[in-house]
Order: sequence, then C-alpha cells, then structure tokens
Amino acid sequence: MHPDLSRYRLGLHIAPKEGWINDPNGLCQFRGAYHAYFQYNPEWPERDTKHWRHFVSTDLFHWHDEGTALVTDIPEDRSGVYSGSAYVAPGMAPDGGDLMCLYYTGNVVYPGGQEAGYDYVHTGREANEILVTTDNGVDYSMKHVLLRNSDYPNVCTEHVRDPKVWEQDGKLYMLLGARDLDDEGFCLLYESADGVEWSIKSQIYSQEQFGYMWECPNIVQINGHDFLAVCPQGLEHEALRWQNRWQSGYFPLPASIMDTVLIDQETFVEWDHGYDFYAPQTFVDDAGRSILIGWMGGFDKEWTAAPHGLDWCHCLTVPRELTVTADGRLRQWPVAELDTLRGEKHGLAQGEAVTLGAYLADIELKGIAGTGALTLDDALEISFADGLMTVRFLDEAVAAGRPQRQVPMDTLSDLRVIVDTSAIEIYANDGAEVFSTRWFPEGDALSVRSTFATQAASVWPLENALANAFD
Ligand code: FRU
Repeated sequence: MHPDLSRYRLGLHIAPKEGWINDPNGLCQFRGAYHAYFQYNPEWPERDTKHWRHFVSTDLFHWHDEGTALVTDIPEDRSGVYSGSAYVAPGMAPDGGDLMCLYYTGNVVYPGGQEAGYDYVHTGREANEILVTTDNGVDYSMKHVLLRNSDYPNVCTEHVRDPKVWEQDGKLYMLLGARDLDDEGFCLLYESADGVEWSIKSQIYSQEQFGYMWECPNIVQINGHDFLAVCPQGLEHEALRWQNRWQSGYFPLPASIMDTVLIDQETFVEWDHGYDFYAPQTFVDDAGRSILIGWMGGFDKEWTAAPHGLDWCHCLTVPRELTVTADGRLRQWPVAELDTLRGEKHGLAQGEAVTLGAYLADIELKGIAGTGALTLDDALEISFADGLMTVRFLDEAVAAGRPQRQVPMDTLSDLRVIVDTSAIEIYANDGAEVFSTRWFPEGDALSVRSTFATQAASVWPLENALANAFD
C-alpha cells in the first residue's frame, strides 16, 4: 500500500470524509439543485448504525457535503435509517414551492439474538416505512410512520424495505422489496392519493424463485418502456454472471408495471459486471433525463475497498444517464456534465503510452477493430479477444483482492474509461456493458497504453471536482 493514503481521496465520486457509505438514497433535483443522500455509518468499522448523509450539487459533479440529514431518533428507526427515495411534490410546500418527500425504512432489530428466540427473518425485527419532508433540504419535518409489519400482506417475512416512490397518472406509487415466507424475493406495489395513506395494489413475483430477498426495488420508465430494477440476494454464482455476493439488475417489462404480477426471471440484465457495484437508484431530473447512481461497493469479503489505514470506505458511481437501446435494454453513460471537466486532449497512438500527472482521466477509444488491450499503469488490463471482454488485474497489491471479470460480447466497438484515483468505471459498446471497480495504484503518474486499432483514441485529464466538497 502506498504510504500516502490521501492519494486515494476521490475527485469525481461521492464518498464520505470518514466512515462507511452504502446505497444512494433520496436522489432528486429539487428547486434547481441535485440532492444525493446515502447510507452512512460514521462508527464504521466498530458499530453498524445507518443514517442518511447528504450531498448537494448544481452540476452532478461539484458536490458539497451538507452533513448528516436523518439520524435514528424515533423508536421505529432505532436500529437504522435504512434506504429509500425522494418524491418531489410540486407546489406542496407552505411557500407554494416544491416539497421534498423522503420515504425510507426504519430498521429495528431486537436485542437478544437467537438465545432470545429470534431468527431475524420471521421474528426479531421490524421494517417501518417512514415519511419525512423538507422544503429547503436543511430543515426536516417530524417523521410519520406510514406502514408497519402488521400492514404488509401476510405472505411477508419481516424483511420488507427500501421504498421507491413516484407519481404516475395523478397517483403515487411505492415499490418495496421483500422476502416471503417461502424464501422468495418479490416486490410489493402500493398506491396512494396523498402520499400518506397507502393501500396494496399488487405483488410482483418472478415465475421461478430468483433469490430469497429483493432489495432496493426501482422503476425506470423511458419512452413508454418500463424496467423493474431489483437487487436479488441468494443467486448462485455462475461462470460469467452473478459474480458478486448479491446481484443488481433489471427486468425489461413487456407491459406496464401496473399490469405486471409475474416476471420471466430469465430476462434479468445485470447493471454492471464490476467488483464494486450494488443498490443503484434512479431519478428523473428537470431536463427529463433518467439518471442512475449506484453504490460503488458491496458486502464481499474477498476484496477490499478500504485497505489498511484508510478511514473511509466505498463511494458512489458517477451519475449515469439511461437510454433505451434498439434491443430494449438500457444503456448507461456518464452524464454530459462530465465532459466539461476535461482538460487538454492527448491522442493515444496504438502501441504508445500517454502519461498523466494525476490519476484523474477520461479515456475514449472509438471505432475499435478486432482484438487488443488497454492497460493502465501495467496494473489493470481491459482486453477483448475470442468473444470475451476481460478486465484483469496484473498487480495484486493494486487489486486489493480482485482477480478478473469477463463478459461475453460479439465485438467491442468502443470503450470509455473514467479513472478517478481509486475508482474506475469502464463503459463498453456505448454503455451497453459497464464494469465498476476500485483499485489502489501506487505509481507517481498514470500511464495509459493501448494496442487496439481504432478510428480515434484520446485521453483527457479531468478536474478534481470534489476538491472543496468538505469546506
Ligand atoms: C442494500 C441494503 C438495503 C438497506 C440498506 C441498509 O445495500 O441492505 O436493503 O436498506 O442496505 O444499509
């Protein structure tokens, strides 16, 4: 490990100054500004109590840390302010402006453990759906408990969480992820006229069991297509898919979510093939873009995001715009604001290296023909050959436990790689496939080398947009 750990502080990816981060929460554009809340545990690694921390930005990259917004302070969320989403109610604030409505799960875990007779699936915990509002992103209302375990359909275990709320045709809807009594993951869909009184509308299952619990459900609606995103726990790893401890992806729905009760699990598409990705959330901004931000981390123990001495753990992905491809899947691409952070362009000639002084770079290869490899620091290799794209670490210290990942593809036509000190996002084929991974380079300068034949290959240094995030 490099002795100067401050070099791993990120310049584009949201991360806490100290402590642990997981799921993005409450993403929205509200009264002009972008708000990103996230699961935050300041007591990591000693204790595990989740709160919501809050970052704000006007351009999705120059974020400012606004401190901890929601803490555990009522009996119904005493073991954690778990994940949830934002719904911006137009004109509903006292001043006639928009009101931000934050829906989250209050987690309660009873003490006593198995000795007290709790298995923490059927007994020993509570999942309460709670609403908090704010008209300025600074002051928050009292917490209103909307749903308790006794309110959920009686097929549910006590694992029900992560409300995603949105408006459609004049009504509000809430998706919840759940585990049923037969250990099947599924979703609950609720409806409401006022965002306070909720009634069950449907239960959404896969045709065959697809994991025992679905976390962090999410709906993406673009050009009349509905996509239901979930994070299934309990899928068996396979050679080329489902490699992380828990998985994260979406089902392209053949019909509206309103008419969906049974899903073909074979249609599941993973969002990201990297080591460090889970629990993404999306929102629609004022310009109508569907934007995804994921947790660039996970619960895997074999690789680490906090090598010894680092006092912060994990980060969020850069915001990615979602669009629908001709084959009905979703394409992910860094929002266009990232391009404005680029400095002077360097050409990347085949077989030659470009060296940058800082580990902040945007690398783009267009019109790739045939096979080849793009190598960063002789430590990480991104290659395409024999119908497989491979992301492989060549240096174990830099990898911190990550060997290699592969995804099948017919051809590799383009690559974009965002390097941000200790985080890398790799977009292939116009964002059809994405790999997110942490790495811990030790060099003094980032060196980029490519053997691909391309129509164009460029490297731009990127601005450190988070330099003043904690001021
Ligand atoms: C997903 C998750 C959510 C939960 C939160 C707790 O990573 O387990 O289901 O609300 O994290 O931090």
